[in-house]
Amino acid sequence: MKPDEIREKDLWPKGFLPLPHPNHPEGGMLFPGFHIEEIKKQEARDLTRFDLDYDLPDHFLPEFPAPIYLTTRPDLGDVSQGKVVTLMNYYELFNGILNPKQLEGLRLLVTPFPQQQFNQTEDRRSALPSRGVTCFDCHVNGHTNAATHLVGDIRPQEFRHRLDTPPLRGVNIQRLFGSQRALKTIEDFTEFEQRAAYFDGDPVIATKKGVNILERGSQVHFMAEFQALLDFPPAPKLDIYGKLDPAKANESELRGQGIFFGKANCAVCHPAPYYTDNLMHNLKAERFYKPRMVNGRMASADGPIKTFPLRGIKDSPPYLHDGRLLTLEDTVEFFNLIQQLNLTEQEKKDLVAFMRAL
Ligand code: HEC
Ligand code: HEC
Repeated sequence: MKPDEIREKDLWPKGFLPLPHPNHPEGGMLFPGFHIEEIKKQEARDLTRFDLDYDLPDHFLPEFPAPIYLTTRPDLGDVSQGKVVTLMNYYELFNGILNPKQLEGLRLLVTPFPQQQFNQTEDRRSALPSRGVTCFDCHVNGHTNAATHLVGDIRPQEFRHRLDTPPLRGVNIQRLFGSQRALKTIEDFTEFEQRAAYFDGDPVIATKKGVNILERGSQVHFMAEFQALLDFPPAPKLDIYGKLDPAKANESELRGQGIFFGKANCAVCHPAPYYTDNLMHNLKAERFYKPRMVNGRMASADGPIKTFPLRGIKDSPPYLHDGRLLTLEDTVEFFNLIQQLNLTEQEKKDLVAFMRAL
């Protein structure tokens, strides 16, 4: 069916509509249960919100704890030793692998700072006064645990997008940061998270709750340097051009690659070797549905969104900037409609097999 027909008959799959925050009118940072437990165990810091639980089932979330690969030491493989990196263990895990400046950057990334829901004022959302949250409470091990939040810079509240935490792996090859704001450097984004995103873009509340302004030269820069060391996971079937090595790939993966670069035109926006064009695109999903309220979220037009890289994509469900698509299979169904591709069942399977090899 054409987009108009799908819209008129109201046939756009409900799961492809923008996903609301678990409590959209309230919003705020929200962490999966397994992360809350681990941080309580290691640091006796409690990230439980008394008003709200995380919504997506664990089996749709990224591996925890995630492995860590460094661009500077590919010979070491995973340097996480199977642990969640925190203030308690970062030094013993990384001393001798990082230089002192990078180590200090990592320390700041695992140091809690006050935030809208986790702070010491009476309108926090934790039972006890909280030391706050760390960058790695969401970007755990430089990857993601799919912690969620609302975008800080859209009003009114019902138009704010839910956000799924993106991995920090591979930020070194990227040129735009933030799904909607396109900040130009990792340094800018690091500063922006603390100054704006932590407090929903309200500088008055930030001051009241104890914002920690990072110093650009001695702190932001150090944190950014460590982030830029986080590599994509190994993809042993890819050659130096980021394409499948025919000696290693199977039939389905190779057919999938053919569709990705051919019939499905995915590579126009997701070119090899990292499968991003480092641009934003407006997919105009609103062609397919009439605007409506979904649990306090006004599902209307998303506007231009960053093309996320697909290298290592199997490791970072859920998908799209708001996490509305839970599996890679869902993303293929989504683009099949968005691009009006009419893919066969076999072609869809092959595309998924290809993306799992990236
Ligand atoms: C609530 C969890 C959470 C915390 C805590 C958090 N982030 Fe993020 N981070 C996100 C989300 C969600 C996005 C996506 C933002 C968007 O799309 O606008 C993001 C985006 C980013 C990006 C851009 C990534 C990209 O692919 O465009 C960087 C860099 C980043 N964060 C660094 C940090 C740093 C540094 C800190 C600590 C100062 C931090 N984050 C704390 C959730 C978090
Ligand atoms: C016109 C440009 C364009 C085309 C063509 C395109 N994509 Fe994308 N892709 C995007 C953008 C933009 C996003 C981010 C959308 C969002 O987050 O709302 C995205 C997101 C994705 C994601 C989720 C990434 C993540 O980290 O959550 C997957 C998977 C994906 N695309 C696969 C494909 C496949 C497979 C095709 C071909 C069938 C395709 N894309 C075609 C632009 C494109």
